[in-house]
Amino acid sequence: VDKNSQRLTIAIQKSGRLSKESIALLQACGFKFSLHEARLLAHSSNQPVDLLRVRDDDIPGLVMDGVVDLGLVGENVLEEVRLERQALNLACSVQRLRALDFGQCRLSIAVPKEEGYRGVQDLEGKRIATTYPYLLQNYLKQQGVNASNAILTGSVEVAPRAGLADAVCDLVSTGATLEANGLVEKEVIFRSQAQLIQRPEPLSAAKQAIIDQLLPRIDGVQMARE
Ligand code: PRP
Ligand code: ZN
Ligand code: MG
Repeated sequence: VDKNSQRLTIAIQKSGRLSKESIALLQACGFKFSLHEARLLAHSSNQPVDLLRVRDDDIPGLVMDGVVDLGLVGENVLEEVRLERQALNLACSVQRLRALDFGQCRLSIAVPKEEGYRGVQDLEGKRIATTYPYLLQNYLKQQGVNASNAILTGSVEVAPRAGLADAVCDLVSTGATLEANGLVEKEVIFRSQAQLIQRPEPLSAAKQAIIDQLLPRIDGVQMARE
């Protein structure tokens, strides 16, 4: 990505729960893109706008570092990366432009259904598998509970059965994944939806003009869907 480019760069998730709706929203706002599966970067044919398609976990950092101008990302990932970068003393501020009406999910702690569970204190001394160690530890600290992490970037739901952890802290949308793995949701620790975020420093007038045109369109699209 050329930092001096006058083209506005928007990072979106390449493949996952936010991908289709992210592209659909930008298209509904009037941006035309031809997407090629293999390509990271897609140029808009009718606006000076480029789409960068990456892993969702990379989106907050790219925006915080000013590598891209805008990002569409789940609040769960945004908050986890913010906490992680804060702990590491890396740039962690962004401008939140809009909450988007998709990507709703919750980050929850779940335990095997055969385990008795009376409350969060039962997690004391346990090991919890998660992709969100900072959000989890933040919550446990607030609750005054000591539990350790087993950090997994995927297949979190199989960790208890595999003997890697006593519980999980993972995203829940329909609940089907927990159900299929014999896990029961016990504590909701974070509620999330997609967000439109912008890099912290002011943008060039040309880029700002595109955003000034984009935001009312997003509001219009979302209002029409209500
Ligand atoms: C999340 C989570 C579960 C699933 C839960 O994964 O890790 O696997 O969604 O959804 P459900 O309650 O509707 O079954 P995601 O799709 O974000 O992919 P990832 O695990 O590869 O990040
Ligand atoms: Zn991810
Ligand atoms: Mg998953």
